Amino acid sequence: MSNILRRGRLEASQDEEILRYTSSMEADRWIFYADIAVDLAHTVMLKEQGIINAEDCSKILAGLLKIREEGMEKLDFSYEDIHISLESRLIDMVGEDVGGRMHSGRSRNDEVATCIRLVLREELTGLLEEIFALRTTFLGLAEKHTSTLMPGFTHLQHAQPTTLAHHLCAHEAALGRDFDRVQDAFSRVNLCPLGAAAFASTGFNLNRKRTEELLGFEGLMENSMDAVSSRDFLIECASVFTNLMINLSRVAEELVIWSSSEFNFVELDDAYASTSSIMPQKKNPDTAELMRGKTGVAVGALMSLLTICKGLPLSYNRDLQEATPNIWRSVETVRASVKVMEGMIRTMKVHSKVLEAQSITGFTTATELADTFVRETGIPFRTAHQIVGILAKDCESPSIEKIDSVSRIVLEESLSGRGLTENMVKEALNPVSNIQRRKVIGGPAPEEMRRYLSKRQTELELNKQEIATLKDIIDSAFENLLSVVGEYRKS
Ligand code: ARG
Repeated sequence: MSNILRRGRLEASQDEEILRYTSSMEADRWIFYADIAVDLAHTVMLKEQGIINAEDCSKILAGLLKIREEGMEKLDFSYEDIHISLESRLIDMVGEDVGGRMHSGRSRNDEVATCIRLVLREELTGLLEEIFALRTTFLGLAEKHTSTLMPGFTHLQHAQPTTLAHHLCAHEAALGRDFDRVQDAFSRVNLCPLGAAAFASTGFNLNRKRTEELLGFEGLMENSMDAVSSRDFLIECASVFTNLMINLSRVAEELVIWSSSEFNFVELDDAYASTSSIMPQKKNPDTAELMRGKTGVAVGALMSLLTICKGLPLSYNRDLQEATPNIWRSVETVRASVKVMEGMIRTMKVHSKVLEAQSITGFTTATELADTFVRETGIPFRTAHQIVGILAKDCESPSIEKIDSVSRIVLEESLSGRGLTENMVKEALNPVSNIQRRKVIGGPAPEEMRRYLSKRQTELELNKQEIATLKDIIDSAFENLLSVVGEYRKS
């Protein structure tokens, strides 16, 4: 059959090169099933509104189900997009007098926007599950290490002792916010543009609420011009993905550093490592490096989306076709990264002994020593800071005599004269008592960490239920659509 779209207004057929330049068929693989769902819902609604008759409806639905069964490969890839290719296949199957009625009151503009939202909604749900799994793994590992000392860093220099649990929970907290952001974006993705047609809606008596319901959306993109022309939901998701990817790349960076010989804090499982083609001894943390690198995909997708959407006049412009593949690239990379990170964290070997030994190198207890001076002798913190700073120049574990000699220079009196004892100094320099003291909300003290962990677990349990609810709404909508389709097919 001749091209059903170009046989009217246009004369020349497009050569290969132009077609390849303008077609979205390849990227449309992502929306094949969604497009059929949209076609099914629209056809059901057309029949219910008396716009097409029951017999035509039944034939169209049967044709669509057949196309769904045959899969994307059976479609004609010389069309400019999946929507028109699919319609052409339908017309081939059931004839134009029937199949040619499906597109009544609809445009590819509202159709494609609906498809993107349907697929993205699924991807976001999957991503929520994956972030959930990663957070669970972080918390599980943290639970085992509430007493495992390690050095905490600022400027990548040893700073103060902390615990591995505290460090892991910091990453989990960031992922928790990523989870919330995905959920939040979901609520704006899960709105139905269908019925907006080209942009000005339609004179057909469509029931937009019915297609919204059949596709399991939470509401409508009401303004029909906004419905077809806005892609801010893509920018929002790409931004959420970028944030998540950046959080992952920070973990990845630490895994790279931590598995170096200098640090030797962890060893990644062999499955996540590579070796050298020349240096047989090498075990490289390639998977973590790749994750750091793949962050560029998410950042790039966001930049592309922003640039494509900037300055577009209302309403639909074909530029928008270039926007869509960016979100697929980004979500694919981000989802894979979350999954791989989960495995990498779950299987890595923690070198607790090294962590503990390193927890005090670099005089990490200096802050606690200064704090002890303040609490026990009443001197101002700034003065204590100066005394410990001078001590730190040439030792990591000063004796009370040494402390007194410096304090005599700074204060013109000894701190032991103001009540400081050798025991107090010993306590201050002990990393275990350091972290035990840090029991303010969010601190690394094991008892505080246990409270924090149990709170996080409860929140995670809630998140689990939220994901289940989302999945349930989507799944039952789709089951309902198929059962309505089943009924109308028979009649
Ligand atoms: N492939 C197009 C896209 O992704 C579908 C909409 C085409 N609409 C049009 N007026 N040419 O945006």
